[in-house]
Amino acid sequence: MSTAISPTAYNYKVVRQFAIMTVVWGILGMGLGVFIASQLVWPQLNLDLPWTSFGRLRPLHTNLVIFAFGGCALFATSYYVVQRTCQTRLISDSLAAFTFWGWQAVIVGALITLPLGYTTTKEYAELEWPIAILLAIVWVTYGVVFFGTIVKRKTKHIYVGNWFYGAFIVVTAMLHIVNHMSLPVSLFKSYSAYSGATDAMIQWWYGHNAVGFFLTTGFLGMMYYFVPKQAERPIYSYRLSIVHFWALITLYIWAGPHHLHYTALPDWAQSLGMAMSIILLAPSWGGMINGMMTLSGAWHKLRTDPILRFLVVSLAFYGMSTFEGPMMAIKTVNSLSHYTDWTVGHVHAGALGWVAMISIGALYHMIPKVYGREQMHSTGLINAHFWLATIGTVLYIASMWVNGITQGLMWRAINDDGTLTYSFVEALQASHPGYIVRALGGAFFASGMLLMAYNVFRTVRASKPAEAEAAAQIAVVGAH
Ligand code: HEM
Ligand code: HEM
Repeated sequence: MSTAISPTAYNYKVVRQFAIMTVVWGILGMGLGVFIASQLVWPQLNLDLPWTSFGRLRPLHTNLVIFAFGGCALFATSYYVVQRTCQTRLISDSLAAFTFWGWQAVIVGALITLPLGYTTTKEYAELEWPIAILLAIVWVTYGVVFFGTIVKRKTKHIYVGNWFYGAFIVVTAMLHIVNHMSLPVSLFKSYSAYSGATDAMIQWWYGHNAVGFFLTTGFLGMMYYFVPKQAERPIYSYRLSIVHFWALITLYIWAGPHHLHYTALPDWAQSLGMAMSIILLAPSWGGMINGMMTLSGAWHKLRTDPILRFLVVSLAFYGMSTFEGPMMAIKTVNSLSHYTDWTVGHVHAGALGWVAMISIGALYHMIPKVYGREQMHSTGLINAHFWLATIGTVLYIASMWVNGITQGLMWRAINDDGTLTYSFVEALQASHPGYIVRALGGAFFASGMLLMAYNVFRTVRASKPAEAEAAAQIAVVGAH
């Protein structure tokens, strides 16, 4: 086989770069998660320094896991999937390279500015305006590369995975640009263009749809490609996938007000957000069922294939968190869960169970392919990683349920004379064992990532990237 790389072969270089950085940022972001979880157990770990305090490191954790780890996984897989399903090379290598280096620059910007305390204070949109502008430019370039590649596709129709990736790219640009409208007063300080309840509403329209489109729709694109590929079965129902797509994107955008129950937001908006959140259960479960049922006739593979196990268990956690979310959106339930660790548990059911596990499964499938190897260096290590991740997620979620419900009940307990039964500190003391279990669960999950790094390192060391590209070219030529 010739190893010369033809310009018509796929651009796997950018896929490889983003894939490796997914693992690197995953370890850093989750390692930091374990550190801040430990700070809640042992407050001395704040080290009495402003830069290492929980308040500054927490947003760094969320930026690293969502945008660095999750973002790199989405870039890597979307560039891989769009080329394979459109049977064409990315429209521009230099623009793709710009998205890689630009995205890493944004993350390094976050790594420096957040511990220094520069922040807009809007959750998940903390980055100050110079970095936010760079992010917007990188994102629009991403859109040009992705949609440009779709336009020059050699296939007739656009595979459904690309619909999900496409919606994620368009809506993320819209959310980021609208929510970041602000007035800079210095290089590192800006004030939001909105005020009061409007600001809050726009922020949670952004925040919730960051969950809906960044942490969900993009990863559903991943699911629609990698689950059928790894199971070697066609997607269960193509029709259901189209209904799933349209229902999901039309409903998600309305659900933001469930983050603002019992606030200054008009009551009708809160009720609308609640109703839309409950309806959202239907398309979410439609998607989960579509993914799960793709395994019809292939369930036995779960016994021997830990990659498939990662993908299927991620769908189970997706189903669980999208059942829990609508329940928490009901105002009476939210009056108990809001401000408690229940929310944090719900977040990580989605973040660890769904987002991280589907990404890890997709990477284990994809990395050998873009490095010209048959498979990962060690299946045993993938299996060990699977168990560390699953046990870690369960420990995390279960401890936060116990803590959340305990806190909610203790805060609302009232004596006959109307005074509070428990002080805040008593509720905090009751939460301490849960914090220990959560830190342990996080350590399980993060150590699984270290196994992954070793496995990827061994796979890459024995790799033949040129052959991967040549093989891809043969596949493209063979398809025509
Ligand atoms: C080893 C794994 C992880 C550990 C130990 C961990 C730990 C933590 C801790 C301690 C917090 C602060 C909770 C609080 O304020 O009380 C937090 C918040 C958060 N983490 Fe993680 N995390 C991990 C992985 C992830 C991943 C992979 C994601 C996303 C893909 C994620 C997304 C978030 C988000 C969105 C929040 C904010 C939650 C909220 O405001 O309710 N985490 N994490
Ligand atoms: C049908 C789907 C879902 C619905 C209706 C939903 C609903 C909710 C509700 C009601 C809250 C609590 C708001 C509060 O009391 O402050 C919440 C918080 C959150 N959810 Fe979900 N959820 C869904 C799925 C997911 C998934 C799949 C993920 C992650 C991948 C996720 C990530 C989050 C995050 C990050 C927060 C915390 C936001 C914050 O306060 O910082 N959700 N969700």
